[in-house]
Amino acid sequence: MRAEVVSAARLSVAPMMDWTDRHCRYFHRLISGRALLYTEMVTAPALVRGGALHLLDFDPSEHPVALQLGGSDPRELAQAAKLGQAAGYDEINLNCGCPSDRVQSGTFGAVLMKHPQTVVDCVSAMQDAVDVEVTVKCRIGVDDQNPEEVLPEFLARLGAVGCSRIIIHARKAWLQGLSPKENRDIPPLDYDLVQRMRGLFPHLHLSVNGGITDLDQAAAFLKQGLDGVMVGRAAYHQPWDILGEADARIWGDARDQTAEGVARAMLPYIEAHLAAGGKLHQVTRHMLGLFSGRPGARRWRQVLSTGATREGAGPELVEEALSHIGPAKAA
Ligand SMILES: Cc1cc2nc3c(=O)[nH]c(=O)nc-3n(C[C@H](O)[C@H](O)[C@H](O)COP(=O)(O)O)c2cc1C
Repeated sequence: MRAEVVSAARLSVAPMMDWTDRHCRYFHRLISGRALLYTEMVTAPALVRGGALHLLDFDPSEHPVALQLGGSDPRELAQAAKLGQAAGYDEINLNCGCPSDRVQSGTFGAVLMKHPQTVVDCVSAMQDAVDVEVTVKCRIGVDDQNPEEVLPEFLARLGAVGCSRIIIHARKAWLQGLSPKENRDIPPLDYDLVQRMRGLFPHLHLSVNGGITDLDQAAAFLKQGLDGVMVGRAAYHQPWDILGEADARIWGDARDQTAEGVARAMLPYIEAHLAAGGKLHQVTRHMLGLFSGRPGARRWRQVLSTGATREGAGPELVEEALSHIGPAKAA
């Protein structure tokens, strides 16, 4: 499985709280059979102290799928990683990039960039606890740190304990004064630094993340020697543009499917979700961008976003929304 996961890591969908839940990942997996999918961050305390094991539920079709953990206590993270492995995840990722207040207060996420020894201790404990690969997602630094010094030291320390796959969100996090959302846009991107890390650490598997909006850009990074590209917001908002072409372009697979086909393939999943007591919008909210750029895309969004929260809304609403979609432009 590890070789398959590493191959999948050429293009991954980023962990995104409230967005990349299991419904979203099921949907993304229908669009791309190959991309590596990440969960939302699940905190180690929620799993280990809170016993919130339902947070680990996923559909077998989601493989290859990575669990992202948040935390800073090696023992707790090791236990959480074990739970993740037992649940069937293919990779356990440690979040060293998330700047939100809640996360800062628990000393984890991006603030860990200031505590590389803690990161190494956490990663080592997790590696000892599981057989699946332990990876890290980080920033290039935080606050007044100098990324030119901090990032190579961080990578060298991880490499020294055998953590060899790292995803770098190519901007700093400013822990004071910016909201989490601003921290994804305002600190400038430094792709060049990530490229230089490529040269400095040829034995590490490095993925770049941040501001990648189309597959051309992703393919260019791979061509320049990066091992992987992680896409967040663009994959969520324009899943067809990013994931619909990915299997062919990134892995050379022949895929013969349409966005309409993917929407229809969601119907049995939706029916099962409703039968289990779930609500339509919990699934369809992730599908709003499927036809982005196509004639009828706006009506698709409108029909789904206004209708799916209504009592009794079911799969027929998806069929109705689909009736507004016009033909795709010929490639
Ligand atoms: C709604 C949202 C939630 C996010 N939640 C997480 C998270 O749980 N863990 C994490 O490491 N990054 C999180 N991120 C950051 C993304 O993983 C990614 O690093 C960031 O959006 C930059 O990539 P992009 O420009 O391709 O979106 C989140 C981003 C968004 C938009």
